[in-house]
Amino acid sequence: MRKGFIISAIIALAVTFLLGWYASAWWYVATAAVAGLTVMGINDMIQTRHSIMRTYPVVGRMRYWMEALRPKMYQYFVESDIDGRPINRIDRSTIYQRAKQEMDTMPFGTQLDVYEEGYEWMSHSIAPKDFHKLNHNPRVTIGNKDCRQPYDASIFNVSAMSFGSLSSNAIEALNGGAKIGNFAHNTGEGGISPYHLKQGGDIIWQVGTGYFGCRDDEGNFSDEVFKQTVQKPEIKMIELKLSQGAKPGHGGILPAKKNTPEIAAIRHVKPGTTIYSPPYHSAFNNPKELVLFLHRMRELSGGKPVGFKLCIGRKSEFIGICKAMIDLDIYPDFITVDGGEGGTGAAPQEFSNHVGAPCSTASPSCITCSSALTSASISK
Ligand SMILES: Cc1cc2nc3c(=O)[nH]c(=O)nc-3n(C[C@H](O)[C@H](O)[C@H](O)COP(=O)(O)O)c2cc1C
Repeated sequence: MRKGFIISAIIALAVTFLLGWYASAWWYVATAAVAGLTVMGINDMIQTRHSIMRTYPVVGRMRYWMEALRPKMYQYFVESDIDGRPINRIDRSTIYQRAKQEMDTMPFGTQLDVYEEGYEWMSHSIAPKDFHKLNHNPRVTIGNKDCRQPYDASIFNVSAMSFGSLSSNAIEALNGGAKIGNFAHNTGEGGISPYHLKQGGDIIWQVGTGYFGCRDDEGNFSDEVFKQTVQKPEIKMIELKLSQGAKPGHGGILPAKKNTPEIAAIRHVKPGTTIYSPPYHSAFNNPKELVLFLHRMRELSGGKPVGFKLCIGRKSEFIGICKAMIDLDIYPDFITVDGGEGGTGAAPQEFSNHVGAPCSTASPSCITCSSALTSASISK
């Protein structure tokens, strides 16, 4: 049947061409159109990637055009102002208006259904303060008894996002913003690139399971390499990544073709090879070793604040870490709790959608555990 179709198309092409020869030059336009569609159809029939196009040559392509148009049509014609995820149209518009310093107020009131289950709001005070008398740069000092270089952190900082998942321009822009706003910029687990250092904003160096920027040739954590880099004055704190909300327990792969000489030099890996960040750490195997590793990093850094980031899975595992801290009398300077709803550069959808506790569930658990920890350590 396929053969028959191809032969018929070629005959139609020949006929239109001959008609053009004898009748009018306009037939050449028709010939060109038929020729284009014939080539397209034959190409669709012989390709093996898309079964719909193979079964319905040319017309089958409409499905893929529609699919490409779908997000745009959905966004412009179907989605309401409050539907979009992760950032809806109302919030996006506010961001655009404020960035352009245009009017950002709205009339009439909220469009949200405030009686909907899950609606969240902030509680105001009946005694507002004079804006001009407020501390406009509230900061929190991070650093416990073992920390020799405490850091006065802003309460708003930039979450971990690696160079590679973000472009060099984006990294530079975030770091430049951190410099202007006097807050800190987390490098993400992809190591410290020149773009993190160009603008001079404060840096939180994140160390993940790939130990990028602080590893030996076998991919293990290297005290010497870590010590060399961590001395940089821009690095104010070190964050050990155990897991992140969007893909807890997953790890990551840097495909060979994305492992350019530039990225390889930043990560201390061989260019052009596939690099795995396993889901687990090779530098420690249990809560006590984890706590000792945090201490080791703090010592190697000359006493900079060291903390760890995790997405909560089993509560008992977090309690296990707290117990190890009490037993060893060694504490991290901070703990970052990521919710299962957190963003990522790339993750399998099953992990993003269904693994890890959301922030609103995870944070109270951690606060309960850490307050138990605090009272235990005070009574020690
Ligand atoms: C593009 C992108 C890259 C990310 N890369 C990392 C990373 O390297 N390490 C990490 O711990 N989290 C990473 N995250 C997760 C964020 O650091 C953060 O935990 C998450 O987005 C939730 O926090 P937020 O509410 O401040 O966005 C990434 C997120 C995005 C959107």
